[in-house]
Amino acid sequence: MDRIAITGGARLNGEIPISGAKNSAIKLMAASLLTEEPLRLTNMPRLADTRFLGKLLQRLGTEVVEAEGEDGPETLLRTKEIVSGFAPYDLVRQMRASFNVLGPLLARTGQAKVSLPGGCTIGARPVDLHLKALEALGARIDLHEGYVYAQAPGGLTGGRIDFPFNSVGATEHAMLAAVLARGETVMTNAACEPELVDLADCLNKMGAHVTGAGTSVIRIQGVGQLHGAVHAVMPDRIETGTYAVAAAMAGGEVRLTRTRSDFIQALLDKMVEAGVEVTPHNDGLTVRRNGALLKAVEVETGVYPGFATDLQAQFMALMTLADGESVIKETIFENRFMHAPELSRLGADIAVQGGEARIRGVQALEGAQVMATDLRASVSLVIAGLAARGETVVHRVYHLDRGFERLEQKLSDCGAQIRRLKGDIEGEED
Ligand code: EPZ
Repeated sequence: MDRIAITGGARLNGEIPISGAKNSAIKLMAASLLTEEPLRLTNMPRLADTRFLGKLLQRLGTEVVEAEGEDGPETLLRTKEIVSGFAPYDLVRQMRASFNVLGPLLARTGQAKVSLPGGCTIGARPVDLHLKALEALGARIDLHEGYVYAQAPGGLTGGRIDFPFNSVGATEHAMLAAVLARGETVMTNAACEPELVDLADCLNKMGAHVTGAGTSVIRIQGVGQLHGAVHAVMPDRIETGTYAVAAAMAGGEVRLTRTRSDFIQALLDKMVEAGVEVTPHNDGLTVRRNGALLKAVEVETGVYPGFATDLQAQFMALMTLADGESVIKETIFENRFMHAPELSRLGADIAVQGGEARIRGVQALEGAQVMATDLRASVSLVIAGLAARGETVVHRVYHLDRGFERLEQKLSDCGAQIRRLKGDIEGEED
């Protein structure tokens, strides 16, 4: 298993181009199951997760071709025919978002058998809201031996879906199914994340009638069939926020391009409160910090436009060097502080109790061996390593490869001392 070694202390100066959003790309790829015509996705990130979903889609009947287009990487997906409606445990277990093929399969063919995804390190992550939404569209759902058997022999019908609380995945999943349902679907208490707006835009280009995406009420007029389209994946707001925090942690001046600062306003407000200089511009933003001590600030994660849970670990890394005590409350996932003990190995002073972490700023961090536990947790360790004295080695970087494209290159282009160490080390277990 690869590791990443960082020698801390180098300031970051330069430009980082932001890639297409992982969490949008994988839902857009699933949308290709809804039509027999080609869907061309541009600004595609090349990540373990997108490759992985590509493999599952190929099994279901999608032709997947990766190419280098005029404006960077793109993927052409074409599902002339669904050859299988079966998504096995091994494929869904490795990436939860694979579960979202269920709705499109059901909408296009009237049946599907998809493995339940199971829990993961950040929490139990049930899919009850996904299944209730599909039932509201007329699907018959049975659960046997870890599999969801879904049927709608006469096709799905529009319905009313009142979500009890916000779920990004369930809202996207319901949208992916309702676009081909007969009649109108109204979703209330829908999630408002920008990735949902991106999905709705793409579906509308494919001939769907979705309105209200980005607000809590989404209306969908079902259509008989969808057609091909070309769509550019939105910029990755979590990658944007991650490099913004990295620049603040290491010090220096970094311009983040090909992105949008408004997607991470809640993070930027907290960074400014902590004493970091942030300047938005047309194509992204510039983050600057010149050695001044950071102030400790309080953060509570929330649904969009609140502070993203996917940026919580990175911000915690930043607060380990702040002046005073900061409190971080995690409200979205019940177990998302796995990075805290690893940051403590670098000398951070963090006390976790329930959904709350108290971080007392220390004078300096010291490099150590640390273990990545999930995607965002692992990048928080890289960020901490940028400022730690000496060498930090992050183990199990396959987590990072799921969601950060060319991370070492993007950081080393700005002056970071970071390199990948290939292969196994003796005795390491997965
Ligand atoms: C998406 O997960 C993202 N993943 C997550 O990013 C992100 O942290 C999360 O949204 C919140 O923004 C992808 O887009 C692939 P939810 P999702 O459904 O859709 C509970 C990353 O690092 N819930 O909004 O799974 C759930 O357990 C990942 O890129 C139910 O109880 O999140 C959680 O507590 C990690 N029943 C809360 O809702 C359900 O049926 C919000 O989850 C569904 C969710």
